[in-house]
Amino acid sequence: MRGVVAFAGLASLFAIPSSLAQDIDFDGIDAAPDPVVVTPAVAVASQTVSVAPVAQQASAAAASVTIALDNGASSLESTPAPVEKRSVPYKRDGTCAAQPSGSGYVPIPDTPQNFLADSGVWGDSLTAPLPDGYSLIFSNLTGSLSASNYMGLYTLRSYDTNACAGYCKKASGCVSFNVYVERDPTLDPNTNNCPTPPSTSNFRCTLWGTPVTAKQATNKGQWRAKFQVLIAGSNAYSKVAAPAPVAPTDPLTQFTASDPLKGAMNAPLDSNGHNTYMGYTYYPFSQSQGYTPSTCAAACLAQTAYDKAHPAADGSFMACLFFNAYVLNINGVPQGLYCSNYNTTWSSAYA
Ligand SMILES: *[C@@H]1O[C@H](CO)[C@@H](O)[C@H](O)[C@H]1NC(C)=O
Ligand SMILES: *[C@@H]1O[C@H](CO)[C@@H](O)[C@H](O)[C@H]1NC(C)=O
Repeated sequence: MRGVVAFAGLASLFAIPSSLAQDIDFDGIDAAPDPVVVTPAVAVASQTVSVAPVAQQASAAAASVTIALDNGASSLESTPAPVEKRSVPYKRDGTCAAQPSGSGYVPIPDTPQNFLADSGVWGDSLTAPLPDGYSLIFSNLTGSLSASNYMGLYTLRSYDTNACAGYCKKASGCVSFNVYVERDPTLDPNTNNCPTPPSTSNFRCTLWGTPVTAKQATNKGQWRAKFQVLIAGSNAYSKVAAPAPVAPTDPLTQFTASDPLKGAMNAPLDSNGHNTYMGYTYYPFSQSQGYTPSTCAAACLAQTAYDKAHPAADGSFMACLFFNAYVLNINGVPQGLYCSNYNTTWSSAYA
């Protein structure tokens, strides 16, 4: 990424290490809040979640987040296929009420063991088409994603990776999605009256505003009375390219993207022996804000504005002309967006 710098704007941690060393500031990261991790509900047909669109990030205004943790939002039901049409609502009262039927394969005998073992349940995950513009992150796991920046859930008619990709493409800020088969009860389980009802298999699709990893496929289901909710055939996909600017006002439009780098920048001193590094901003992933390279672009521009307003005694100031945006992982789990700023454009050879 090529562009300009700043510190300000977004409510978050920012720091200028006193030494201006470019190494990842582990103390600063440790001191920053942990990323917010969300586990989508089971036994819901749909959930709508709004995360701050990219163009609004620089103002960091409060964005509304709505996570309906039960019964889902019904607004999606009028969407044309592949959203499941259903006449009965999901219940969690233990009333033995009939639950919506999924469209997936149910093993015979209908046991939790067979749900995980029978390729009729998860076979599609191995052969599902790779949607254009996405890469496969993991395949056929028995956990769905608990990750950051949850953007909603859809129920599909089949193991339709292209349909889920379509929802991701339409959702501003969506970077990754997860398709999986969920073992759900056909009756709202009750410990005394219907502890282990027959199962139904639902195809789910969840959307995420951050990159994801297999380490985050941790949601392996739950018990409802004596009925075991399970996950199988869990596949995740992430966008291949960095998000493009979405609006003319997007600060990212003021920069030119480099090719993807092999590592974080570690720029040398310039030809006069001066340090061109200007510090970093770090944004732990949150549920109320979507963080993308546009966030770094806004931070870079804000730093220039700040420096311009606070020049050195001789009137000079450093301008952020170049930034490096990356997702910091700890033990394979994405934590947040790290933006480092420079007053000079460096080639990818220094990554
Ligand atoms: C797919 O996952 C199931 C667990 O649901 C496992 O038993 C099976 O061996 C896996 N198949 C492949 C080819 O990875
Ligand atoms: C970058 O900042 C350094 C240190 O202030 C300065 O010496 C150098 O001239 C600046 N480079 C550019 C291209 O502005």
